[in-house]
Order: sequence, then C-alpha cells, then structure tokens
Amino acid sequence: MLNVVIFGPPGSGKGTQSERLVKKYGLAHLSTGDLLRAEIAAQTPLGMEAKKLMDQGILVPDEVVIGMVDHFYEKNKNASGFLFDGFPRTVAQAQALDKLLEQKNSGIHIVLALEVDEEELTKRLLNRAKSSGRTDDSDEKIIRQRFEVYKRDTTPVADYYRAQNKFHSIYGMGTIEEVFDRLCQSIDNYIQR
Ligand code: AP5
Repeated sequence: MLNVVIFGPPGSGKGTQSERLVKKYGLAHLSTGDLLRAEIAAQTPLGMEAKKLMDQGILVPDEVVIGMVDHFYEKNKNASGFLFDGFPRTVAQAQALDKLLEQKNSGIHIVLALEVDEEELTKRLLNRAKSSGRTDDSDEKIIRQRFEVYKRDTTPVADYYRAQNKFHSIYGMGTIEEVFDRLCQSIDNYIQR
C-alpha cells in the first residue's frame, strides 16, 4: 500500500499532478475540494453550507471534511493506496488522518509539497477563472484570502510531517511535465529504498 499526500498552496498544481500520479501509481484520488464541489453541484445541505465558506476562501470545518474523508476511505478500502489532495489542511485534520489510517494498520508514507511563488500562483488562478467557473478564482481579494488561510492554518501541517521525516519539498515551477518528473522521482526513491 502507498499513501501519498500532495501538499501546496492554492494553484500550485496539486489537482493537475494528482490526475497523472493516480494513473501512474494506481492510487485512489481523494480531493476534498472535488468532494465538496460535488456536494455543491448536488445541492446537498452540506454543499450549500460549504459553498458559503469556499466562496470567501475560508476553510470548511474540520469535522465536516474528516467525515467526508472517512466515507470516501470506506468506499475505496480495497484500493492499493491513496493520493490525498488538498487534505490534510490543518494539524487537526492531519492527526485525524493518522488515526484513521492507524485503525486500518496503515499510515502516510510520503508528503510531497509543491513550492511555487505567489505571483505565479495568482497568474494561474486568474487564468483558470476564465474557464473554471470557480468563484474563489475570479477575485484577487479572495485569492489573497486563500493564501492567508494557507499560511496561517495549513503551513503548520508541513512541520507536522517534517517531524515524522515524511516531508519532501518539490520545486513546482516549470512545465507540468517537468514537475511531474520531479514528483515521480521522489516517489520512486521512496519505493526503492
Ligand atoms: P481546493 O479545491 O483544494 O483548492 P486549492 O487548494 O485552493 O487548490 P486549487 O484547486 O486552486 O489548486 P491546485 O493546487 O489543485 O492547482 P491546479 O492543479 O488546479 O479547495 C477549495 C476550497 O475548498 C478551499 O478554499 C476550502 O474552502 C475548501 N476545502 C477543500 N479542502 C478542504 C479541507 N481539507 N479542509 C477545509 N476546507 C477545504 O492548478 C491550478 C491552475 O494552474 C490550473 O489551471 C492548471 O492547469 C494550472 N497549472 C498547473 N500546473 C501548472 C504548471 N506547471 N504550469 C502552468 N500552469 C499550471
């Protein structure tokens, strides 16, 4: 079993790279952003509550997200591994994930953090806004808010995994292919060690 976390600020390429990584390594793709957007599309009560927060660039409460992750994990428990994308985003979520995996006699093996500068991140998000229909992409004020939330609530998760020697920093600038090669190199090094 291989459990990977892909980590990084909004627009760093987590979703783009996840699509490729799950194909190459045969992993189940758990994106909490995608799960929440599916709830919004289905107009569930959870989706309607989440939308209010997501449109402002604020995190959805930990217990809501952890519940969704639990459910996804159960539904895919026969997978040969998971790629966690956009989760965990707080230390409380990271602790809950460790607990969940421990109950299944498993754990996180490697955390890959995409490093991209803010100017490039903003450019990518505003560019995606033209076609994504994502409210949180189209307004620079909301984008800045997402960066602030990332710095305040999510960067401590990096320290959590550094303390476990699982954290790998990956240069996230350059073409999609170049970044993909760097990610694969880190995963392959882990598998072969
Ligand atoms: P989420 O959906 O997770 O969004 P995010 O983390 O803000 O990340 P993005 O999807 O914006 O970016 P990405 O890193 O995946 O980059 P992508 O590959 O798309 O979360 C949205 C909201 O949901 C949160 O704000 C929060 O409210 C809520 N939420 C989600 N998870 C939560 C959790 N665990 N707890 C609480 N709340 C949660 O790429 C971006 C663009 O750049 C694309 O157009 C892409 O084509 C382009 N691109 C990618 N790579 C490159 C490259 N190398 N060169 C040029 N362009 C590139």
